[in-house]
Amino acid sequence: PTIYLKDYQPPAFRIERVDLDFDLQEEGTRVTCRMVLQKLAADQDDLVLDGDAGLKLLSITLDGQPVAADRLHRQDETLRIKAVPDHFTLETVVEIEPQKNDRLEGLYRSGGQFCTQCEAEGFRNITFFLDRPDVMSIYHVRITADKALYPVLLSNGNLVETGDLANGRHFALWHDPFQKPSYLFALVAGDLDCLKDHFTTRSGRDVSLNIYARAHDLPKCRHAMESLKRAMRWDEEVYGLEYDLSIFNIVAVSDFNMGAMENKSLNIFNTKYVLADPEISTDDDFDHVEGVIAHEYFHNWTGNRITCRDWFQLSLKEGLTVFRDQEYSSDQGSRAIKRIQDVRILRAHQFAEDDGPMAHPVRPESYMEINNFYTVTVYNKGAELIRMMHRILGADGFHRGMDIYVQRHDGQAVTCDDFVAAMEDANGADLSHFALWYSQAGTPHLDVREDWDDKTKIYSLYFKQYINPTPGQSTKAALHIPILMGLIGPNGGEMAARLIEGDADQTEKGWLLHVKEAEAVYRFTDLAAKPVPSLLRQFSAPVQLSSPVDDGQKHFLVRHDQDEFSRWEACQDLMIDAILKGVSAISLQKPMPDVSELIESCAALLKDADRDPAFTAEILTMPSEAYIGQKMTPVAVDAIHEAHQYLKKALADGLASQWRDLYARLANKGPYELTAEHKARRALRSVALLYLCFGGDSDPALKHYQTADNMTDRLAALRILSHSDDDDLRERIFADFYNRLAHEPLAIDKWFAMQALSLRPDCLDRVKSLLRHDAFSLRNPNRLRALVGSFAAGNQLRFHDISGEGYRFLGKIVGEVDRFNPQTAARLILPLSTHKRFDPERSAMMTSVLRGLAANKDLSRDVYEILTKSISEE
Ligand code: ARG
Ligand code: ZN
Repeated sequence: PTIYLKDYQPPAFRIERVDLDFDLQEEGTRVTCRMVLQKLAADQDDLVLDGDAGLKLLSITLDGQPVAADRLHRQDETLRIKAVPDHFTLETVVEIEPQKNDRLEGLYRSGGQFCTQCEAEGFRNITFFLDRPDVMSIYHVRITADKALYPVLLSNGNLVETGDLANGRHFALWHDPFQKPSYLFALVAGDLDCLKDHFTTRSGRDVSLNIYARAHDLPKCRHAMESLKRAMRWDEEVYGLEYDLSIFNIVAVSDFNMGAMENKSLNIFNTKYVLADPEISTDDDFDHVEGVIAHEYFHNWTGNRITCRDWFQLSLKEGLTVFRDQEYSSDQGSRAIKRIQDVRILRAHQFAEDDGPMAHPVRPESYMEINNFYTVTVYNKGAELIRMMHRILGADGFHRGMDIYVQRHDGQAVTCDDFVAAMEDANGADLSHFALWYSQAGTPHLDVREDWDDKTKIYSLYFKQYINPTPGQSTKAALHIPILMGLIGPNGGEMAARLIEGDADQTEKGWLLHVKEAEAVYRFTDLAAKPVPSLLRQFSAPVQLSSPVDDGQKHFLVRHDQDEFSRWEACQDLMIDAILKGVSAISLQKPMPDVSELIESCAALLKDADRDPAFTAEILTMPSEAYIGQKMTPVAVDAIHEAHQYLKKALADGLASQWRDLYARLANKGPYELTAEHKARRALRSVALLYLCFGGDSDPALKHYQTADNMTDRLAALRILSHSDDDDLRERIFADFYNRLAHEPLAIDKWFAMQALSLRPDCLDRVKSLLRHDAFSLRNPNRLRALVGSFAAGNQLRFHDISGEGYRFLGKIVGEVDRFNPQTAARLILPLSTHKRFDPERSAMMTSVLRGLAANKDLSRDVYEILTKSISEE
């Protein structure tokens, strides 16, 4: 059952108004849904509502009259009502069982409270409805529940009325004045405490801000609250977008399939992305909370006021909102570091996705299960598309486009094409070629050659682009690729030059080349000497670049490039090269490569470390084993590990005294603070500690652990000790961590994850025994991802052990989880879908696990789609 974009049909009915009544009970919840419907398509006799097979229909009336059974037809996930009039009121009463809902879609219970997750198609698990984003309606919601158990009753919009009822029950009535699709509906009922604050919008509206959490977690909500206020201000200042109601609620929930959800005025968050406290959260966790709080808040305009016509347009809201949250975070801290981190994610996950059986365009053309398309391609590559338009049009042009987009489409459900059209119209630009990025899957490869003519002093660059075929797209067209670049002279400064051939603009940050054809030539003149090109500054396009810059020039760029991203990139490239050379030396049984020059460059960086400690931490962090794996087929699992360790050891030994000095120099000089300065110092000190201990001595890590007064330091040490072959030491520290933080689920998630990421040979045995730990549960997605997800997606060496045990283990877990939580099961299985990238032996074992799972008749649609796509592709 594949759904295609080309089959899109506008809705046949409009829902003018909906009244929902929830009677929450321990043993089942009654939902009454009254809708006023208006026929839009005159040729439609029947009304077809979405509704999960699990909905127990208790009654249905049309304009007050019961609907005869022979006018009703239930099939798959729909309810057909035959021969309906043009304008009518339909009322259904259904019973559902949120207390048994482990799918965590629709209405469910988590930690004694009721909550909802409706995006993308969870609303149909709550009641019969036109559950599609282009049907927008006005909601009135009445909630009735036991007052002692559920003192807090929340839904979207404004609170209209509350009151007590018989039998210790009470009710609340909510009204949302804004039209919205069903996926933005939310309901929460529980015994929650609330952190309160206020925000006054630019035009003077007083907004009451509330973050709801368990009493014990309330102090951990402060950072989220401060982040929320900063995000609200930022959106006013940068986009002129103000909040539009007098109330904004956030609720923390511990069982949640994804990160968070932007329901109108009632955002629901995974606790992982709202709670933050130095005891349980690393500096990165604080940043993630801030980023996700901003992301969900920004959806109020890019997602809620203007929503998606259909789910193929998901990137319309997600790509744009990710771009907005990335920009917000850049403005709060270091732009260069934020960019480096975002590019790391893009390459590690999105490039890998593009290279596998699930590759799809930013605007997919088909899907079986939409939940499988909340991907790094739709989100992060989608954000890169927005970023490229921002670069091509310039900040002012982009903001003009946003203004038009909002004016034109407020209150509508629209498409990615509508967004591009707004950008074009605001700038008199033609983005028709650029828009191919939305429909074409795969990572473009860009090969660059250079030529220097010493006689004419002309410097030429030759670009060649191509994209490998992806499932369903065998041929590819050339894309419009914006390349930001500079020319660097022998003294390290930017060289002025005159462009005599090629399509480019001159900008403050360098030349912006517009490569639009399969091949393109650029010629520069007025140069005194041959320049070193600094290509793809700031990672101006999501492409795989093969550059003409040789090792010597890369060392030069590490020192001199004015673009920090490119300095980092040059150093990463050198590390990748060294590891790849190591891998081939291992397979050829040759001596390992000489890395002394790399050590020298790193020594120079260390000398200069104080200028920007956070950047120094990034640039001295080695690429992951998985990322090296992307650079070769088949992935040489064991040799990569060996070569990776070799380089790490070389850097550890070659710079031993520097690491020791640096580590000492960066010691905590006073209590913990969450300032940029302290964060930077902790980041660099953690890197120093890593190399310091890699020299063979775990004492510094032990001391680091024992003296830590915050999770950043504690976890940096625990990570190192997790690999230790000193069993005693390791057990002691893990036991200490557990006892210290047993009452903090988010910290215990880290405890599980660190063990699953251990490089020790007994890692899988440990993971298996942890499945039986009292604190482990397959039903809590955070816990499941911490243990099983970390192992399968984050531990290349041990997951891909040649015994195949890791594969079989994952297959078994996914089979179990799929029976109650398909959405999370489908994400967990993805590491097996990359089997083509591995050697025949591993690949055969991986596919055999996939086939074994596929033999199960009761597979969810979620897992079924991933399995068929992974297997059929052979
Ligand atoms: N719209 C949410 C966000 O990105 C994600 C919700 C995804 N949920 C899902 N079931 N696929 O902010
Ligand atoms: Zn989002």
